[in-house]
Amino acid sequence: MSEYKLLMLPPNVELETKKVLKQLARANRALAELKGYTDTIPNKHILINAITINEAKDSSAIENIITTHDDLYKAMSDAPSASPEAKEVVSYRTALWYGYEQVKAYGMLTTNMMIEIQSIIEKNRAGIKKLPGTVLRNETTGEIVYTPPAGENEIRELLSNLERYMNEEHYDIDSLIKLAVIHYQFESIHPFYDGNGRTGRIINVLFLVLQELLDSPILYLSSYIIRNKSAYYKLLQEVRTEGNWEAWIIYILTGIEETAEETLRLVKKINTEVESMCAEIKEKLPKIYSKELIELLFYEFYTKTIYIEKGLSVSRKTAVNYLSTLEREGFLASEKIGKERIYQNKRLYDLVKGYE
Ligand SMILES: Nc1ncnc2c1ncn2[C@@H]1O[C@H](COP(=O)(O)OP(=O)(O)OP(=O)(O)O)[C@@H](O)[C@H]1O
Ligand SMILES: [Mg+2]
Repeated sequence: MSEYKLLMLPPNVELETKKVLKQLARANRALAELKGYTDTIPNKHILINAITINEAKDSSAIENIITTHDDLYKAMSDAPSASPEAKEVVSYRTALWYGYEQVKAYGMLTTNMMIEIQSIIEKNRAGIKKLPGTVLRNETTGEIVYTPPAGENEIRELLSNLERYMNEEHYDIDSLIKLAVIHYQFESIHPFYDGNGRTGRIINVLFLVLQELLDSPILYLSSYIIRNKSAYYKLLQEVRTEGNWEAWIIYILTGIEETAEETLRLVKKINTEVESMCAEIKEKLPKIYSKELIELLFYEFYTKTIYIEKGLSVSRKTAVNYLSTLEREGFLASEKIGKERIYQNKRLYDLVKGYE
């Protein structure tokens, strides 16, 4: 089976089987509910930042890059003491943002964007594979299960076929089914020496944004894949060995349904936290309260004097005063990292950290 030749899209079989359609309806419903609720939230940046940091952590964990929220928090605030793993996770998030901005700006998802995303994740410019030798192995037995296409030309042709499939509307098939097809195809093309899994997981959310099924990049399958890891590899392989698209598509659709529900719960919690902190600060500290201040406090897990100074156009002295008042009242906890004092939004941090 390792000699399998990867076919161009679209797959030449009926994908919308009865079972698929049933799960499709559930996935679409859950996703629409998530989108509907999120669309009503004024400052989405808060959500996106909190959610993408968990995704960056989970997706990197699939690749065995394990880090903690504490370490990540250091890496995000540019502390020199942050671990290399945490820095890699931060790169993943940078890649995700890059892709999101590109898709929003150009309304399409291109091969060049995929190459750029992978190069941000891996911090190198190796690009598409030029040398053969990459094989996919069974994780436990080590047996070679699949040899992806090796020549750069063949890879480029497959990618441009994939690009057309992603961006053109005339394939009359539901977008979520397409997403399952795209993920299988991208992973099977396996265009890079490394980082194909992480790049593919970013492409998934970008495709949802491209299709306007989500406005913000907040739905990620990584934690679902971690929980159902052996099925993930097995079903990818079964598309190839048995033409079993149905089980693969249902796997992805179930992941979308479960994850949309989980994400909606988290989004609601974050939103409630923003609102209650807002109300408390307004009541206890009316002199320093402003909506802009609250937004700055939730922008990331942490803030710095300079962000408050710039964000509110106040003097450094005023900014320091605001932050120390907020700390005294228990809204923030500060720590000196490197030369700077970093103020952590404890409640947001604990909420996001506890959500795993
Ligand atoms: N049998 C298979 N057929 C198609 N794709 C596969 C198969 N086995 C694994 N893959 C894909 O290859 C990815 C791993 O590739 P690679 O090591 O280049 O990516 P990564 O981002 O470094 O790793 P990871 O996905 O483990 O984080 C897996 O995530 C999966 O999507
Ligand atoms: Mg790898």
